[in-house]
Amino acid sequence: MPKKRVLIVYYSYTQQTKTLLKKFIYGLESGGVEVSQERLEPLNPYEFPFRSNIRLAIAMAMTFFQKRMTIKPLAANCFGTWDCIILAGPTWSYHPSGPVLDFLDRYGRDVCGGKKIIPFISCRSYWRLHYWTLKRRLVLYGSEVNKPIVFLHPQKEPWRFIGLILQLRGKMMRRENSWFRHRYPGYGHSKRQGGEAMEEGKKLAIKLRGDWCV
Ligand SMILES: Cc1cc2nc3c(=O)[nH]c(=O)nc-3n(C[C@H](O)[C@H](O)[C@H](O)COP(=O)(O)O)c2cc1C
Repeated sequence: MPKKRVLIVYYSYTQQTKTLLKKFIYGLESGGVEVSQERLEPLNPYEFPFRSNIRLAIAMAMTFFQKRMTIKPLAANCFGTWDCIILAGPTWSYHPSGPVLDFLDRYGRDVCGGKKIIPFISCRSYWRLHYWTLKRRLVLYGSEVNKPIVFLHPQKEPWRFIGLILQLRGKMMRRENSWFRHRYPGYGHSKRQGGEAMEEGKKLAIKLRGDWCV
């Protein structure tokens, strides 16, 4: 039987989506699935970290209004036939990130039209509007949108929010035994979530092999 083929289209700004995807892909490949990846590359990415609070606030406002971030052209093989496409990236101000929005505008119909799509979301805590936006757009292109795979930062509020802002400003406290780090061990997803991502990859591989309509 020919191998099932999955395309992963992703954008990752602070490497959280990418880190989870590595594990997810390991799970898929260990289940005998052939995986291709397409990283969305903005022509003019945001600086990291943001150099001032004003620059961060402007980025937050722009992303709230779903400002597109123009991406470089996609590789030709993206337009092929796939058993399933994973569309992965972070939530930005409740919405998909600028590069993913640009992908949907310019390539969404040709790459995703009529295919099975699984959104893969990395966020601090809010993902539903992000998912609905993706779903609404993809359904217009005739895609079959399946249950999303979602990972939230595991830390408690308000530390999770404060930690995100400090990370985006490059001001995370370095001392591991500091008062803050005691409450917020580190930015982003945990090792345990990496393991969960791998399990999700294995589960998808089994479903695809069984010709399951994802
Ligand atoms: C400009 C910007 C806006 C964000 N807005 C949200 C948001 O509205 N809701 C949320 O849960 N996380 C938000 N986040 C946090 C990211 O979704 C989160 O840190 C994610 O894990 C980053 O993934 P990445 O490293 O793959 O880019 C935002 C991050 C940035 C940079």
